[in-house]
Amino acid sequence: MNKKCVYIYTIGCQMNVYDSEMFKKVLRPLGYIPVDEVEDADLVIVNTCTVRKKAEEKAFSFLGRMRALKKKNPELIVAIGGCVAQQEGSAILRRMPYVDLVFGTRAYARLAAMVEKFEYDRIPVVDVEMTMGITDATPIPELDAEVEVSRFVTIMRGCDNFCSYCIVPYVRGREESRDPDAIVQEVRDLVERGAREVTLLGQNVNSYGKKEGLCDFPELLRRVSEVEGLARIRFATSHPKDLSPGLVAAYRDLPKLCNHIHLPVQSGSNAVLKKMKRKYTREDYMQRIENLKAVRPDIALTSDMIVGFPGETEADFDATLDLVREVGFSGIFAFKYSDRPHAPAAKFEGKVSEEDKTRRLAKLLDLETELSEKRNISYAGTTVEVLVDGHKEVKGVFQWTGRSSCNRVVNFTEAGKPTDGNLVGKVVPVYIETGLPHSLRGVLR
Ligand code: 5AD
Ligand code: SF4
Repeated sequence: MNKKCVYIYTIGCQMNVYDSEMFKKVLRPLGYIPVDEVEDADLVIVNTCTVRKKAEEKAFSFLGRMRALKKKNPELIVAIGGCVAQQEGSAILRRMPYVDLVFGTRAYARLAAMVEKFEYDRIPVVDVEMTMGITDATPIPELDAEVEVSRFVTIMRGCDNFCSYCIVPYVRGREESRDPDAIVQEVRDLVERGAREVTLLGQNVNSYGKKEGLCDFPELLRRVSEVEGLARIRFATSHPKDLSPGLVAAYRDLPKLCNHIHLPVQSGSNAVLKKMKRKYTREDYMQRIENLKAVRPDIALTSDMIVGFPGETEADFDATLDLVREVGFSGIFAFKYSDRPHAPAAKFEGKVSEEDKTRRLAKLLDLETELSEKRNISYAGTTVEVLVDGHKEVKGVFQWTGRSSCNRVVNFTEAGKPTDGNLVGKVVPVYIETGLPHSLRGVLR
């Protein structure tokens, strides 16, 4: 078998990062080795996102660059996968004839066969079928060498919520959960090869297993938590409407569950939440946070926010700023509303001007920096447990890097403490000396 090279460019969410790892695994039996330089590749794959227009444009601009590369090397295979591929299908081949393979969000189990066929007959292939059973997602662990300290594990795919602004249900299909045994096995395999933390991924993890009558999400957390050698569990993303008493109990009972939850609220205005079809009010959201704080008083909260949703007034936006302050989020991801194909909000009246969206976004991000810094400063003088994931040198000074349970980036020095060499993969106590806007700095305890 000839050695061939594959270059993968990943855009978008953590699930795409996980899927790109899967592409590498399914292509390995064909002889494809991953490379870091696109110029070295025999096969280029762009794994795409379409949640906002900007992400979609990024994919097309990357593919545009592939045109010149293909001119230089006509043998090069150019493939597009993920959400843009799912959305556009064969239209991509019409628009960009130098693209060879288009595969959708549930087609990667068939990716190797597509590539093999194309190598043989050079006839472009489009596969945007939504038919793959989710259990096909099980990776092939024995092909992998050592893995990183923190890894993603997809537990479910798709979404049934149909929030009015969102394209995800249309490009990722209906919710489908993986078998819990397969998930636990995957976590075990990862831990055996060096992982200490897993992040369980799904568009709406709280509804895990419900449709299929599998175990529910809190039970899955319990089962994953029993994996020996695993130090930490995170998950993303959970929908506030489905945050159950069972999940609160999991936070109470499972020490491996990190002291952080990403709970996207999107807006602080009830009128906007209603139009977004989020199915909760601001008051419901606050109540869920109270429930979590009752069992984890210092839990760190992060959120996604959309500014400039159709019809959003200044008063609505002020309500968002007010909510952000009231909750005291330790981080937010804020986005300007973007019209998406199929999503009902694209046809809503009262579109907000680009200037207003830009101004509101800047204001929200200023507030986020202020709150994040305030929260980080509050850690100064305390000791936090850090899962070490690497090291770097800053101005000639050696520093270890990692994350606290509450998901803050922590950089620290050994300060002369005796260590047994490599700290990567270990959970160590770090005394925090300084809280910076986006990280903590400290010394090993
Ligand atoms: N416009 C702007 N942001 C969006 N998101 C989803 N759809 C849109 C859209 N049409 C944001 C939401 C979601 C995050 C992943 O992306 O905040 O939580
Ligand atoms: Fe999109 Fe709403 Fe589903 Fe999240 S819950 S993926 S925002 S439809």
